[in-house]
Amino acid sequence: MMYCTDVLLIFLIGILNSATSIKLPYRVPKSCGDNEFFQHSSLECISCGTNQKTGSDLLTCVCENGHKTSLNYGGPKLECSKCGLNEAVASDGWNCIKCANGLDKEKKTCKPCGNKGVAVDRSENGSFYSDKKQTCLACTADTSVLSSHRICRRCHQNVLELTKDSRNGVSCVCPEKIIKKDGSVVETSEADGICFQQKNLINDVANLYTIRYSNFLTIESFFFRQHLRAAQAMCILHQNYTACQLLGNLCVMYMYNEDNYEQSGTSRTDACKEFLLIVSQYTKLFVRNLKDWPSTMPWLYYKVESTVLALDKTDIFHKFQRRQELRFVIVSYFANGTFDAISEDASILQFCPTPQTLTSYAFQFSTPYQSKCQVKLGDFSKKHTTRFFDLYLRIDDQTMYPIPVLVDNIQLLGTNVNQLSDRHYWRLTKRFFLVDNISGKSSENSRPQIIQYAEQLELNIRLREDGLIYPPLLKVKYKAADVSNVLSDNDDVSVSFKMSYEMNIDNIFRDIQIAVGVLSVIGIMYASIRTFSYRKRDGVQVIDCTSIFIFLVYVCCALAIVFFLVLIGVSLQWLFFYKQQATVIRLLPVGAQEGIIKSLFIASFFMMGVYVLFLLYSQIDIDIFFIDWERPRTVNRVMDEEQNRSPQSVSIMRTLFVANEWREVQTTRKINPVLLIIILLFFMKVVGFENWSTTDPLNRLSVDPSKDYIGEINFTLRFGVISLLFVLIAVVLWILFSLIYERFIGDSIGDFIDFCSMSNISIFILTHKQFGYYLHGLSVHGRADTSLHELYEQFQREEENLCGKRGLEPNSELQVFEMAVTRRFREEYDKILNLMINRDAPNMRRDHPVPVARQNKANGSNLPARLESSVNAYHMMNRFLSAFIEHSIRDNNYIVKDKVFSEKLFKNELLTPFENSFFYNDEHRSFTSILMYGQEFTFLVFYLFLFIMVDWLSNWNCILAAVVVYFVDVIFVTARDYFGKRNLANKTMVNERFLI
Ligand SMILES: *[C@@H]1O[C@H](CO)[C@@H](O)[C@H](O)[C@H]1NC(C)=O
Ligand SMILES: *[C@@H]1O[C@H](CO)[C@@H](O)[C@H](O)[C@H]1NC(C)=O
Repeated sequence: MMYCTDVLLIFLIGILNSATSIKLPYRVPKSCGDNEFFQHSSLECISCGTNQKTGSDLLTCVCENGHKTSLNYGGPKLECSKCGLNEAVASDGWNCIKCANGLDKEKKTCKPCGNKGVAVDRSENGSFYSDKKQTCLACTADTSVLSSHRICRRCHQNVLELTKDSRNGVSCVCPEKIIKKDGSVVETSEADGICFQQKNLINDVANLYTIRYSNFLTIESFFFRQHLRAAQAMCILHQNYTACQLLGNLCVMYMYNEDNYEQSGTSRTDACKEFLLIVSQYTKLFVRNLKDWPSTMPWLYYKVESTVLALDKTDIFHKFQRRQELRFVIVSYFANGTFDAISEDASILQFCPTPQTLTSYAFQFSTPYQSKCQVKLGDFSKKHTTRFFDLYLRIDDQTMYPIPVLVDNIQLLGTNVNQLSDRHYWRLTKRFFLVDNISGKSSENSRPQIIQYAEQLELNIRLREDGLIYPPLLKVKYKAADVSNVLSDNDDVSVSFKMSYEMNIDNIFRDIQIAVGVLSVIGIMYASIRTFSYRKRDGVQVIDCTSIFIFLVYVCCALAIVFFLVLIGVSLQWLFFYKQQATVIRLLPVGAQEGIIKSLFIASFFMMGVYVLFLLYSQIDIDIFFIDWERPRTVNRVMDEEQNRSPQSVSIMRTLFVANEWREVQTTRKINPVLLIIILLFFMKVVGFENWSTTDPLNRLSVDPSKDYIGEINFTLRFGVISLLFVLIAVVLWILFSLIYERFIGDSIGDFIDFCSMSNISIFILTHKQFGYYLHGLSVHGRADTSLHELYEQFQREEENLCGKRGLEPNSELQVFEMAVTRRFREEYDKILNLMINRDAPNMRRDHPVPVARQNKANGSNLPARLESSVNAYHMMNRFLSAFIEHSIRDNNYIVKDKVFSEKLFKNELLTPFENSFFYNDEHRSFTSILMYGQEFTFLVFYLFLFIMVDWLSNWNCILAAVVVYFVDVIFVTARDYFGKRNLANKTMVNERFLI
């Protein structure tokens, strides 16, 4: 029973709990209404009681004016009681007193004493004055009322000093002029609440307080009007530390403008001119002999040393390790010259809210870093106090190094000197700000009309050798924005912070240039030899336009390969060096440095493109003929002799068959580019090799973008990664194909040659006027047009080695040859070919019905005359070529030879076929060079370039690149196939409808 109630109780409590929500309304002190205070213990806004109002801290209530506190222990209970009719609350808040100077009925407070002195309500021992009445005590001698403090304070030293010998005696008031006891007159003037001798203040000339901002905005600055003259005078007369800093800050806000200082003789002046004039007065008292930095003043300019000298100093001997945390010292001052703090937190340099995990990468040595974001313009005036910074790099625990600043906006007589590329013109400075929302105010309490902010901040570190560095350089670019309109507070502006590292890699580029130069010379020489042999194969020995064109194409090819090799070498050494080094001795190329690499790549891409197109064109323009060795059957001797001997009785089907196979072989590939690209994508995207191409010096395959810092993608690294993977995958696929697939599964070229033999058909190809290839396909059995029974008998005989060898020469297996034919042979060949293809007549298409009308032939043929003569020419060609191969034409004979090594290397022939043609044994099937199969390397290199190109242009979208490569491949194959087919149909009389 007991158990049962427990359960019930728990159940009830559960219901109650779920009924009350624990959500709280969001409240902050500012969100409380009038007459409410923020009770921080409960995070609520609570109304104040009667006669009470919200205290200035918003966290308590206080009694209303005219009411004294009668109970307050610092808790929620506060009691106030009304003072008498002519009374006001005493300064302690707990008493009511009578006023000395009358009651302000409206405010219910005592009227201030004004010039009569300070109002006091108790004497020094704490007792009230008689009648609980306030008294006005006059300030005497060298003191005056400090209104906010309700006490008499000693006057400023300046005015005391000035009025010391005056006839009127010491006074705190700055009079117009002071007449001294000896009768001399001192003109005085007040500035920033301090009394100065008139002659010590700079003249209040026109435009003294006018600031011209970078984008033509101008303003008459209240801050400058208030402080400039006083600060200048205090700094020059008394070296007042605050005043000197203040003057320096004014000059920084004035963008270090030196125009008035440089123009001697001008009466115009400004903060910077005054600052520099003071500095130039110093002859000693410098900080550690730094002649630009008087010890009582801020260090603003690098004037003594030349810029180049300052930037190329080699006085940092500390070796920074890769990814070592860089530590900075940041000294900050308020705009009014007051010292603020020394901090080591460099993250204040970034406006962008970045997660801690990422910012920790920002200052790791040799890690290029960038953060960019949009910031509301209003934030600059509301969330930022204007502060001025001096930046130092901590070299080790004992020392720090001042970091010069290069302000992009500095102008010298209208020129933005710091935007010039020649460092000699640069003006280095030392102090910078992030936001200036002070100079752009035109009166004390107005909202700023113009604010300046650092839109780009870049800390650039240049490496020497072995991890030593040159002085770092902070580059700042300011922007001035017009914020006079309240609506502009919501405008988004972009800001960025960047850490960049660079290194003089001229020596690497010198090496690249040498490599490119030397290899190019070799490449061009090779191209010349190729051109020479090309033209020789065409039977041309002179240099004509075609020769020059061919030469240019070969040069394109040679240079593309040369650049490719150099690029691979360069990018791989960066890929391995940059990501692996412990001491930083090699940095990535940046900007212009990388330009040379990119231009090499672009050049080789286009040159390779030209060569690939040339290759495709030359492949589809060859002369080809299928020699049919089949002779008419002689079994039926009884039949008509005439018809029997006619070649027409041999079936054309085998020729069609071989032609069809040939057409298919034209576009066969060793390595399927689509497969290659898919594997490449797999390694890039899935395995994560693409993470190797980022500028962060981390070698990793997977990153978590929310936790890890990811650098930008670098072109050189990307090129290296993609090329490396591409080449490796291609090599592996090639090995798999040629060593395993081709050997054990299917060798399409070998099968094709075999098929020719089985069909008793040879292929005769002329790629040039006097050069071509010959595939010997004479059947060892003498015939191929047989019955199934006979066919299997033939197989049987061949397996039992009962028949001869397949080769052209007796006892040889070699069926493939390169040929260099004589001019005489070619003329003969052309004669028949012209007859055959009716070069001058319009092409016949299968859709044009052949006119049957002209049946004029004696032998009963019903073909039109033109076609008839073509067919005859076809047979003539068959007879001519088979006779040629069989050595039975006396003045068109040939000799079979081996090529010597140099001939193979340069793809040329040393002997000119003059009397006899030459057949060269071709063990390596070089005839495949007229198929896509034999140009695999060229195509793959081009696809690699295309892939990288698209990847680069599409902002590193390698999937798009893969798609583009796929389509380009499809286009190439389709074009090759289509035009190859037409050529075949044209040259061999095989009708296109058989080429399917
Ligand atoms: C130093 O200069 C500042 C700024 O002008 C001024 O406010 C301060 O009173 C000066 N200090 C003394 C001791 O005069
Ligand atoms: C200067 O400005 C800072 C911040 O605005 C303020 O805290 C400090 O009191 C000011 N100093 C003087 C001398 O006015």
